[in-house]
Amino acid sequence: MRVFGKDYRAVWMIERHGRAVVRVINQPLLPHKFAIKDLPTYRDTAEAIRDMTIRGAGTIGATAAFGLAQACVEAPDDGRGFWAYVRRAYDTLNKTRPTANDLKHSLDKIMARIRDLPPAQAKRAAVAEARAISDWYVHVGERIARNGLRLIKNGTRMLTHCNAGWLALQDWGSAPAPVYLAHRKGRRVFVWVDETRPRCQGAQLTSWEMMQEGVPHAIIPDNAAGFFMQRGEVDLVITGADRIAANGDTANKIGTYEKAVLARENGVPFYIAAPTSTIDLNCPSGDRIPIEERSADEVHFITGRDETGRLRRVRISPEHARARNPAFDVTPARYITGIITEHGIIPARASAIRRLFASRRPPLVTRRSA
Ligand code: MRU
Repeated sequence: MRVFGKDYRAVWMIERHGRAVVRVINQPLLPHKFAIKDLPTYRDTAEAIRDMTIRGAGTIGATAAFGLAQACVEAPDDGRGFWAYVRRAYDTLNKTRPTANDLKHSLDKIMARIRDLPPAQAKRAAVAEARAISDWYVHVGERIARNGLRLIKNGTRMLTHCNAGWLALQDWGSAPAPVYLAHRKGRRVFVWVDETRPRCQGAQLTSWEMMQEGVPHAIIPDNAAGFFMQRGEVDLVITGADRIAANGDTANKIGTYEKAVLARENGVPFYIAAPTSTIDLNCPSGDRIPIEERSADEVHFITGRDETGRLRRVRISPEHARARNPAFDVTPARYITGIITEHGIIPARASAIRRLFASRRPPLVTRRSA
């Protein structure tokens, strides 16, 4: 992603005085302020995942990988102390966001890589593996862009929910990636951006990305999607995913299910875009996907800039009112026209998913940096 003329990723890691420091784009400050936040220890990195300083399945996966590598660097050099520290870090990181499959997927990749190594080597290997995982997300985002490109014709009006773009998958993103590529190729595109209450990832993050990329778009209230579909103003829906079950049922940001049902009712194709690391073959169907429920305060309070330019958090509901805040919902596979992966577009069906995993050994992690 290119911000103010400079290339960025959503998360990366640097070395400072022999320590590993994770650096992230501070997402809650966007779109009002672009700032980088340093996370000096793995505990800070875990907290940044939990409190949504970083968001989006792929970026959660990359951040968790860096967090575990950071823990390896921090850990004592003796064998027992090293493994006790690393296992504690694994558990802490693994508990931060329960729905995103990429989180555990990345942690397990690092553990598999270092399992048989002595601490000194494990430290170096964990850092190399975390960098490779981060590069892989950039690579698959680009592949998803290319594989989804044929869905974006000249004049396509696409609707998306939440943020599944640059910030959510390290660089290209998943759902908007084909649109970014089509736009760069000179096709006329337009995006309906659901605001995505309660955290407003659409209004705050997706719209900011589209502004940077120069893609024409309009933010709409979450409950306006049906209105525009009914009027024939939406040609296509593409959203990201946090976990895809083995039968194609898909968990994504709360509100995605409604969009899929509305799309079916109005004859609009509904696609999911996600890398194979988001597919959980151990989860047979959507009713087995753990759904994160977040604090009711995210519903009661909203943060934005006031007329004087100051960032303020204000309450929008009556004092003491009750609220519920499920962060994700599950769209049954029958509503999904196809899943855009780094290997191509496949039907949201158990047989197609099985074939995809049988024909390759995904996810194909490319080791481009060490
Ligand atoms: O709670 P968030 O902001 O992490 O949720 C993000 C989403 O639901 C995205 O749509 C999803 O992670 C796909 S991102 C490539």
